[in-house]
Amino acid sequence: MIKKGIILAGGKGTRLSPITKSTNKQLLPIYDKPLFFYPLSNLMLADIRNILIIVNKGQIKNFYNSIGNGSHLGIKIFYKEQVSPNGIPESFKIGKKFIGKSNVALILGDNFFYGQGLIDQLEELKKFKSGCTIYLKDVPKPENYGVVKIKNNKISLITEKPKKFVSSKAITGLYLFDNDVIKLTHKLKPSKRNETEIVDLIKYYQKKRKLNHIKLGRGAIWSDAGKIDDFTNISNFVTSVEKVQGLKIACLDEIAYKKNWIKKDQLIKNINFYGNCPYSDYLRKILKK
Ligand code: TTP
Repeated sequence: MIKKGIILAGGKGTRLSPITKSTNKQLLPIYDKPLFFYPLSNLMLADIRNILIIVNKGQIKNFYNSIGNGSHLGIKIFYKEQVSPNGIPESFKIGKKFIGKSNVALILGDNFFYGQGLIDQLEELKKFKSGCTIYLKDVPKPENYGVVKIKNNKISLITEKPKKFVSSKAITGLYLFDNDVIKLTHKLKPSKRNETEIVDLIKYYQKKRKLNHIKLGRGAIWSDAGKIDDFTNISNFVTSVEKVQGLKIACLDEIAYKKNWIKKDQLIKNINFYGNCPYSDYLRKILKK
């Protein structure tokens, strides 16, 4: 069972420069809400209500203005700074106290997951016992990602950004770890780019035969918003889906209300806080249902 989640929302954001010179990538809008709402919604859909958001130095205030301590959503949000982007596994050093003796889910703050079957696959967080579980997705350009090869339904190879084709199965930015992750993180050495690497951490679990995987199917969409074209594509996608369906993606207040984590009076307070905007109009409709 996993009851705690970390959203890693720091990083350099070099590929989105100059936009990221003045703000964090994860605060930028994907259509009608900040990017980090999307991974946060995935954790909430998996019934994770204890969440640590790790941000760049000096950025806590900006995130806090957006989402506060989470009480208006019936969740608990904590914040920590990453002084410099030393790698994804640093999350477990920074989050050591938050994690305590628990298992933990890590989701990257610029990752977008959506689609048919996803909620069922997020159920894995409730069933999780030990080891490490990664989520895989077939991608058209595996050379841009950490990639795995699968043999007899087991991961036989893990490699970072392979120049030659190995497989089209990319490692997405959602990882489930048991508590060993804290001590294993301390063993990691920085790579050539002077960061500790998440694939190295995953390899420890592979060696111990404790690595499991879940394949996201064709009906599920995964993309990271690191490049401007991907960022724009995700935003266009959300715009289209929300307009065609009349339903919002990653509406945190709707998720909290439907899960009964907040009551009507709190939802009304939230609507007043957001003010006069289409997001509030949508929530007003939810209230009437
Ligand atoms: P990346 O996309 O690998 O890196 P980045 O966001 O710094 O962007 P760029 O490559 O354009 O410079 O990071 C993936 C996610 O993890 C993203 O949400 C940022 C976050 N991250 C951190 O918060 N700290 C880190 O040390 C690293 C490496 C990433």
